[in-house]
Amino acid sequence: MAITYDTSRVTLVDHPLVQHKLTIMRDRTTGTKQFREIVRELALFEGYEATRDFPLEDVPVETPICPTVGKRIAGRKVAIVPILRAGLGMVEGMLDLIPSARVGHIGMERDEVTHEPHEYYCKLPRDISERTCLIVDPMLATGGSALDAIHALRSRGARDIKLAVLISAPEGLKAVLEGDPDVHIYTCAIDESLNENAYIVPGLGDAGDRIFGTL
Ligand code: PRP
Ligand code: URA
Repeated sequence: MAITYDTSRVTLVDHPLVQHKLTIMRDRTTGTKQFREIVRELALFEGYEATRDFPLEDVPVETPICPTVGKRIAGRKVAIVPILRAGLGMVEGMLDLIPSARVGHIGMERDEVTHEPHEYYCKLPRDISERTCLIVDPMLATGGSALDAIHALRSRGARDIKLAVLISAPEGLKAVLEGDPDVHIYTCAIDESLNENAYIVPGLGDAGDRIFGTL
């Protein structure tokens, strides 16, 4: 039976350049250096979409021709929160786009037998409740890690949370959207399903191992 979820809280970032780069990432022969570069680039593309609702304010500016009124971002504070370890691969791409963002870290690891995540580290900016939190992780499989990360942030006061992943499974989208009433998810692809080891099919294998060369 088809898996259904609230599509109004999911943004599919499927620009042709994104799809082209994803295919290179999926290729089992792509090496660590290129894989890492593409994770960073795709994070930048997703950051672009995830910041689309940032408020603007008018600002006077003088061009070489005449004075005019331009726009600038109206002081939105951002925290980028990678889920360790694979999420680290997306941080630099997000920072390229939002250099003033603070970076929090949350350590989640899936148990290889039960596939349940457990938190082993959490360090966030002190003023997390005032920031738009962009949780980043390349893979959303069962959704357990992302949902635990969201709950960890909420329990520490975070209110405005977005989740940016590169590849998601329908099962993970459903679990996260049903487990948190407000989060919005950005994803570059929605794959078919999960296999018996809770890996995304077709997916790209283990993102952390491919980013850090620990295969
Ligand atoms: C991977 C991935 C996600 C999680 C997704 O991390 O980066 O965090 O699995 O799976 P889930 O949606 O079923 O929770 P992993 O636990 O392998 O740790 P790593 O980043 O250290 O490789
Ligand atoms: N974690 C990964 O890195 N890949 C998957 O397909 C599922 C979980």
